[in-house]
Amino acid sequence: MKQQWWKEAVAYEIYPRSFMDSNGDGIGDLAGILSKLDYLKELGVSLLWICPIFPSPNDDNGYDISDYQGIQPEFGTMDEFDALLAAVHARGMRLMLDLVLNHTSDEHPWFIDSRSSRTSAKRDWYIWRDGRNGGPPNNWESIFKGPAWEFDEVTGQYYLHIFSRKQPDLNWTNPAVTEAFSHIIRWWLDKGVDGFRLDAVSHMKKDPLFADARRLKGAPPPFSMKKYMNVPGILDIVDRLFQRSFNLYADAVTVGEANGVKAARALEWVGEEQRRMSMLFSFEHLDLWEDEAGTRLDVPALKKALFSWQKALNGKGWNALFIENHDIARVVSSWGDDTRYRAESATTLATLYFLLQGTPFIYQGQELGMTNFPFRSIDEFNDIRDRNTFLHHIQQGMSPAAALKTVARVARDNSRTPMQWDASKNAGFTSGTPWLKVNPNHTTINVDEESRDPKSVLNYYKQLIALRKRFPTLVYGATTPVLPDHPRLVAYTRHDAKSRILVLCNASNRPSRYHNPETPLLLHDALLLANRPVPRHATLTGVILQPWEARVYRLK
Ligand code: NOJ
Ligand code: CA
Repeated sequence: MKQQWWKEAVAYEIYPRSFMDSNGDGIGDLAGILSKLDYLKELGVSLLWICPIFPSPNDDNGYDISDYQGIQPEFGTMDEFDALLAAVHARGMRLMLDLVLNHTSDEHPWFIDSRSSRTSAKRDWYIWRDGRNGGPPNNWESIFKGPAWEFDEVTGQYYLHIFSRKQPDLNWTNPAVTEAFSHIIRWWLDKGVDGFRLDAVSHMKKDPLFADARRLKGAPPPFSMKKYMNVPGILDIVDRLFQRSFNLYADAVTVGEANGVKAARALEWVGEEQRRMSMLFSFEHLDLWEDEAGTRLDVPALKKALFSWQKALNGKGWNALFIENHDIARVVSSWGDDTRYRAESATTLATLYFLLQGTPFIYQGQELGMTNFPFRSIDEFNDIRDRNTFLHHIQQGMSPAAALKTVARVARDNSRTPMQWDASKNAGFTSGTPWLKVNPNHTTINVDEESRDPKSVLNYYKQLIALRKRFPTLVYGATTPVLPDHPRLVAYTRHDAKSRILVLCNASNRPSRYHNPETPLLLHDALLLANRPVPRHATLTGVILQPWEARVYRLK
């Protein structure tokens, strides 16, 4: 397997609005991030991904960009960005930005021009169509609910927006769009940025016929996304862009957010021979639970999803490993047990994904075991998706209380509450009023407290990161699933010519026996990491793992 800096890195995702506020306006900013670089360095992460920091009307908190070469004033200035980049590099870390390719803001000058007349030079940069029978051109629905088309009075046509109506989709069949983005990408890479996370890349191509989507049985969602997700030909669009931008920079890292791409097609996207993206954020392991019904974690299904990607890419491509980000609820609350076993489940979930083959990503606060927010009213939601989903349920006849409960379980705002730095008012995030409420549990779950507690989730993450650094086997070694059908254990080995390491995780609230004739002897001396005290005696008959217990052994 080819060695590359980003394969050896541990990445950390920063949601800038919620990370650290330096000037008391209640909104996190670049100077705030700068002030916390030493914290990140000490944690051991080496690659930072900052969600969009470009000028934006904030309809979708920065994912609606109105200028790709500027800095959102509430986050700071370009000089502050340059200082941040230099400070990251001075610490031997790298920085990745977030590039939204599928759509811009409706306030981007390109779209303002495009909507101004049917003959505008930018008309064809976006997707305009005539209506059908007095309604939208087809039945496509927005991922944020409601029709994916918006009628525009000025020119009497509809434009496509598969996210909010303030996020018009770009027309990637237009070479001028490719050209414009190639320029933007090169400009940032020339500035010294180390790479990009590529937002919503699997949506860049639409069905050329704009045919109606198939209705699905049941809800949500009651429609298929097939007409605007992973449409055949999508990779030609990617290639045209990459040939003019990323492929000219051998060292740049790219991580595509690829909803709908399955393990079977993974190589096409990230196979080293294909020279496309470095890694993908796959959704296969999230789709299993991203429903509002509150389905419990199905361990064999999770293993199937994770291991299928391990197998598909071993020796040929590279995985991005993650269990949290700014678009999903906190993992300790959804998959784990945030009441009885908060620290244990946070650390077990950490162990089970982090030591797979790939580059692990940590989402801010995940390293503390931050939990979901106790939402009591829809007014506490800021996110457009969460609010639209709430209204959608009300329109479908759900009671406000039931709708609140349903949305709260999967709300994106769960993971967007301010980072918990200490036990003080507003968790040390701001001296002003935070833009989104701080989780009341910051009095006990916070960086300050956890730094001082050797048994904290934070200190466990530090050990996990250090362990991965110590054993190249945990970076480049192959993965072999162990007891793949076990209903509660997630177990696997990582191995190469030098060592063999066993990862054992009990992802449940019940004690579970591990017994495997192939690895009978688990010597205490060979224990590399554990999230609970482990009895000293070796065993030939297998071990009982306590609820949410995780252990890592070096095997003979
Ligand atoms: C994925 C981003 O992660 C999410 O936050 C955003 O709402 C959509 N793409 C649209 O850009
Ligand atoms: Ca601020």
